[in-house]
Amino acid sequence: RAIASLQSPAAMDWPRLQKAVAECTACGLCRGRKNTVFGVGDSKARWLFIGEGPGRNEDSQGEPFVGPAGKLLDNILLAMGLARGENAYIANIVKCRPTDENGRDRPPAADEVAACLPYLQRQIELIQPTVLVALGKTAALSLLGLDPSTPVSKLRGSVHRYAERPLIVTYHPAYLLRQLADKGKVWSDLCLAMSTYANIPE
Ligand code: URA
Repeated sequence: RAIASLQSPAAMDWPRLQKAVAECTACGLCRGRKNTVFGVGDSKARWLFIGEGPGRNEDSQGEPFVGPAGKLLDNILLAMGLARGENAYIANIVKCRPTDENGRDRPPAADEVAACLPYLQRQIELIQPTVLVALGKTAALSLLGLDPSTPVSKLRGSVHRYAERPLIVTYHPAYLLRQLADKGKVWSDLCLAMSTYANIPE
């Protein structure tokens, strides 16, 4: 088992990758977790939505976006004609819940992102989604390798690339819950994502 966990995710099939994540001790986040959160959806989904990392609800249920932000994400998917677990796969940048010293959710640190990203990269290789959507700053900056001071507002409205696929950046649904006035911006980002999708030949 120790040798298996040293194997690079790049060579793993889906079940092996799931097992490696479930047993991962590559960073300190493994110490406080109840569950790892691998992702949810069809492993042949055309759409991949990428959040930041599990919060309290996700850590206890082992599934991404199951709290209030997740309800909003489900509604966003519905508006796009998609559904959790079907044509949309939902994953996070990190698979274990980051907390601060008071037990509250916090964004993952750079070393935690670096330790976890190979798993997401392998998920992308195996799923081969047509379009990626980065939900919020952590996802966008981690994937694009940008300076932490870059605001999401600067990344919206363009089609970026990650793992040879188009990547659209929009606000995180948790941010949107606090800032409902920005829902038009999120919708226009998703319209860009849908037109990007529609313009890619089968
Ligand atoms: N926020 C995220 O970024 N991911 C989750 O899974 C839940 C909340």
